[in-house]
Amino acid sequence: MSPSSIPSSPNNLRICCIGAGYVGGPTMAMIAKQCPEIHVTVVDLNQSRIDQWNSDVLPIYEPGLKEVVEQARGRNLTFSTDVEGGIRSSDMIFISVNTPTKTHGMGAGRAANLEFVEKCARRIAECSVGHKIVVEKSTLPVRTAEAVKRILKSAPNGATFDVLSNPEFLAEGTAIADLLAPDRVLIGGESASAIERLAQVYERWIPREKILTTNLWSSELSKLTANAFLAQRVSSINAISALCEATGADVDEVAKAIGTDSRIGPKFLKASVGFGGSCFQKDILNLVYLCEHFGLADVARYWEQVVVMNDYQKKRFSTNIVRTLFHTVSDKQIAIWGFAFKKDTNDTRESAAIYVCRDLLEEGARLVIYDPRVSEKQIRNDLLHVFKDQSLEVSARHRQLIEKNVTVVSDAYQASNQAHAIAVMTEWDEFKQLDMHRVHQNMQQPAFLFDGRNILPAEKLASIGFEVHGIGRSSTLPS
Ligand code: UDX
Ligand code: ADP
Repeated sequence: MSPSSIPSSPNNLRICCIGAGYVGGPTMAMIAKQCPEIHVTVVDLNQSRIDQWNSDVLPIYEPGLKEVVEQARGRNLTFSTDVEGGIRSSDMIFISVNTPTKTHGMGAGRAANLEFVEKCARRIAECSVGHKIVVEKSTLPVRTAEAVKRILKSAPNGATFDVLSNPEFLAEGTAIADLLAPDRVLIGGESASAIERLAQVYERWIPREKILTTNLWSSELSKLTANAFLAQRVSSINAISALCEATGADVDEVAKAIGTDSRIGPKFLKASVGFGGSCFQKDILNLVYLCEHFGLADVARYWEQVVVMNDYQKKRFSTNIVRTLFHTVSDKQIAIWGFAFKKDTNDTRESAAIYVCRDLLEEGARLVIYDPRVSEKQIRNDLLHVFKDQSLEVSARHRQLIEKNVTVVSDAYQASNQAHAIAVMTEWDEFKQLDMHRVHQNMQQPAFLFDGRNILPAEKLASIGFEVHGIGRSSTLPS
């Protein structure tokens, strides 16, 4: 498939990335920064997103990202809505569009919606002339490359293609550090020359031994498997957190004790209110769907439990709040500290906060929400979305609940003023710097604090007068 005309050096390479999201944006900015002679164009159908990428206020918050973008933008990094122009003028095209879980039709609730990927492949086929390397960056079900290849084969202008899988392993909040010094870069494909061409790009700043090459399917499956294993660790420690609460053990102590075993390792053992983010749940459900498709029902059930445990953990947290507040939160004010799915991002996709807020609103609580990076619009959208019924409608009652019982404020003190309880949903560092005496004084008494991230010092808070409920540890009464 690869014509001999492909140059072996990346010097005259032109890259286009379709999709200017949390993955496409930072990844392309890093490639452009590290390789000034490669022209990188990021295209997206969403005009306002592109406008933001071209402005001082980027559409995503990611520490260090602005500096990287500013270094390359206007030099060899362009953001545009001209998808066709971007495809035409590039040798290498990354597909980095969203692949959400399907909400209806076959495989609803499990399979990935590949509509956007397929549309990209068709657009590439239509617009291309000559030879192009198409790189799957989005997380995709195994063997999606096969579908992409078939679509590309029908290119009307006789264009030829190599398809590579190059899954992204960056985590939000640390994307820049992850892109600068990844544990590994994975490139799957059939054409040695295409693999080499992409490897040469990464080689500009990543040691060659960290660039792994595999066949296409192994690469696609490795991404799903990595996320499934990571999520499984979180669900495992969260399962143990329930047992710790019942027995009086402390989950952070248990995590430390097991994490020092070099075979287990210390990372991803932080018990929490539940994992969120755009990848973990989606990828596991994808894996479950794949297993079912191949008749591996027992394997499917095994992985499904990771998501079941995560739902249990989120539910346990909201139930504990209601139970502790004397079995009713109706008309009680609860401060929600943090709404993003983790710190250092403005992303709220699958954030545990959404589900905990939903449960508390159903119980009649008044929520005062503060997150340092998430906008009020995003919070209200997420809450509306979570109340959608099967026909994707939100009832008048739920709309009213969101309008009347949700207030979004611009600092943590405001959120806790007159509150009956505080729920820490995201581990933002600024929550550790607050004057908790001041917070306590302005709350209703007794003042309850539910730390869904175990970031605040429970004993110290108890000495101030709080009743503290963490994850996986005994509650601490005011001393
Ligand atoms: C994840 C993978 O880490 C990354 O490699 C992949 O490319 C995309 O998916 P991301 O979702 O951005 O990245 O964040 P991650 O740091 O993995 O956290 C996911 C969720 O798990 C967050 O809600 C986080 O708070 C939670 N988590 C993580 C825990 O609750 N405990 C932990 O010990 C680690
Ligand atoms: P991720 O976290 O995987 O980067 P995002 O949702 O943040 O996902 O970004 C995906 C981007 O892809 C969105 O900005 C969306 O507008 C864009 N997109 C989806 N389909 C297409 C398409 N066919 N052509 C161009 N852009 C697309």
